[in-house]
Amino acid sequence: MRTPKVARSLKVRDNTARNPEVAQGRGFGTRDSRWKGQPNHQSQITIPTDGTRWVSEERQPVLPQEPTSLLNLIGNTPLLELFRIRKAYPGVKLLAKAEWFNPGGSVKDRAAASIIAAAEAKGQIRKGIRLLDASSGNTAVAYAMIAAVKGYPLTLCVPKNANAQVLGLLRRYGAEVILTDPLQGSDGAIRKAKGLAESVPEKFLYLDQYSNPANWQAHYHSTAVEIWQQTQGQVTHFVSGLGTTGTLIGTSRRLKEFNPRIRSIAVQPATPLHGLEGLKHLASAIVPGIYDPAVPDETLFVSTEQAYATLKRLAFEEGMVIGPSAGAALAASVILAERMAASKQKAVIALIFPDSGNRYLTEGLFDELPSSVSARVAYRAH
Ligand SMILES: Cc1ncc(COP(=O)(O)O)c(C=O)c1O
Repeated sequence: MRTPKVARSLKVRDNTARNPEVAQGRGFGTRDSRWKGQPNHQSQITIPTDGTRWVSEERQPVLPQEPTSLLNLIGNTPLLELFRIRKAYPGVKLLAKAEWFNPGGSVKDRAAASIIAAAEAKGQIRKGIRLLDASSGNTAVAYAMIAAVKGYPLTLCVPKNANAQVLGLLRRYGAEVILTDPLQGSDGAIRKAKGLAESVPEKFLYLDQYSNPANWQAHYHSTAVEIWQQTQGQVTHFVSGLGTTGTLIGTSRRLKEFNPRIRSIAVQPATPLHGLEGLKHLASAIVPGIYDPAVPDETLFVSTEQAYATLKRLAFEEGMVIGPSAGAALAASVILAERMAASKQKAVIALIFPDSGNRYLTEGLFDELPSSVSARVAYRAH
């Protein structure tokens, strides 16, 4: 059993309850803006060395204090420090954006909400129109959740070999699902959606997450601002996997506006056939229209095995069960952390954990040799 280290006692100001913006879950101000003009409200709380806080009696949760819509809970996710893993890399902080805190369970809630809001603003969602898009997982769930809340009809093109839990959720939300050729993966689903939109344009509004600027803009306006504020402007590196590429492009663009020295690191699967759900090996896939190769300063390639080994480490050492693409982002961040520590440079690395591992447990996420992955890879290679 691990023995907790002796806690150090710090005086910490806690004005969460008094800052209406924070209390309503609309986001954090910077340290200065949060504290400026606030009543001098101090409480003695104890911070042990693993960062856990024993909450003082006065502290309020950073959640809406009034009844609200489910959709207002999208974004404002926590930035979790990986205290144990970072220990091996002196001078380096590893901070993971826990995107499974979004109500649909993934980072894709942000993009889907932004894409639908943009269509609403343009007056494109009219009576008799069905929303349509292709997705192999999380975006489909996000669209389905939002469409259910708003009462919009929705059709999704999804590869037949998509995660069984995702397919179950889509049915539960009441979305129409068109299953596409599993051998063609997400590219087959894209082709199917495009074909439908072209053949019956009066019926479908093709949202096209791969080319829709509202996708990356979601991260430009939310993810990046949150990371900047949550790190109090200390972030030096941003690491994200590439799927539609919206997360990496939008977040990096804004972070670089805040501080042009922030480095953007893209993560791709090392091989065309892989088990990193949600990620694309761009050299062998349809390159998303929103991808801009000028944005990332560097791309790191991670194998399925590396990502899965990292997932295990994260569960044992940090108590977080996360999805395969998050494992890839962490594996890449560890490569970066090793490099920075070896050259005795300080770094604050912010990375994205797109979803939780719960969605993949039935697929053998923690098997020695993940059977679902090898099965899927073999299936696609057929
Ligand atoms: C699990 C998972 N990880 C990563 C990504 C990549 O995010 P983005 O599409 O913003 O590049 C996705 C996208 O669907 C995903 O579902």
